[in-house]
Amino acid sequence: MATDGYPPALQPKPVKLSRKTVIKARFVDQVKFLGTVIRAPRAVGAIAPTHQETARLIASNIDTASGLPVLELGPGTGAITEAIFNTGLPADRLYAIEYSAPFCRHLQEKFPGAHFLQGDAFNFQAALDAAFKTDAPNRFDCVISGLPLLNFPKEKRFELFNAAMDAVAPGRPFVQFSYGILPPVPVDEREFAVTRSSWIFRNLPPARVWVYRRKV
Ligand SMILES: C[S@@+](CC[C@H](N)C(=O)[O-])C[C@H]1O[C@@H](n2cnc3c(N)ncnc32)[C@H](O)[C@@H]1O
Repeated sequence: MATDGYPPALQPKPVKLSRKTVIKARFVDQVKFLGTVIRAPRAVGAIAPTHQETARLIASNIDTASGLPVLELGPGTGAITEAIFNTGLPADRLYAIEYSAPFCRHLQEKFPGAHFLQGDAFNFQAALDAAFKTDAPNRFDCVISGLPLLNFPKEKRFELFNAAMDAVAPGRPFVQFSYGILPPVPVDEREFAVTRSSWIFRNLPPARVWVYRRKV
């Protein structure tokens, strides 16, 4: 657990929920997720919320000690968001942009104190600037994407990737999970260090986590 510099008495404590409450909450998320899949299958691009194993692996890339905010794109029902908060990241250091208004409302209720914006993640800086004006963050510890990137044209993927790499602090990552065999963003590996995880078969469909960093 990262310490974030707090004295031990002020360390954020994980909230203990009963197993029944957790199962009920996951079931509610699953139902909300399926409802949105039926309405917008291409935008959601998945058949179930992200599995906890995938979410944990994604969130493990966060350095809470950096003091910087984290940007999440396409948080959906919040499976990755939950793993992000399990790293000890303070709520007000998470900014997230989600297209679906019902998902946004659900997330804001589930994670009070975090900043959920309803908008287009492909224009994340414009959405942040419009919402937070001169207080809008523009430097992040990392950008974490749950967007179904393979459903978008390559040019759009590159645009998002370049904007994300410009928004992270030097050497910090852009993290994307993907169901594809090919990289979600095929970059020049002389310029970017790229790692990918093993397949996570508990994820539906099976997924891998891709981590991109600009070489410094
Ligand atoms: C694969 S789902 C994310 C799953 C999420 N991690 C979960 O467990 O619920 C992709 C999410 O990206 C959102 N999305 C798709 N296109 C978007 C866009 N242009 N801007 C913001 N969000 C978008 C969808 O509404 C959906 O919630």
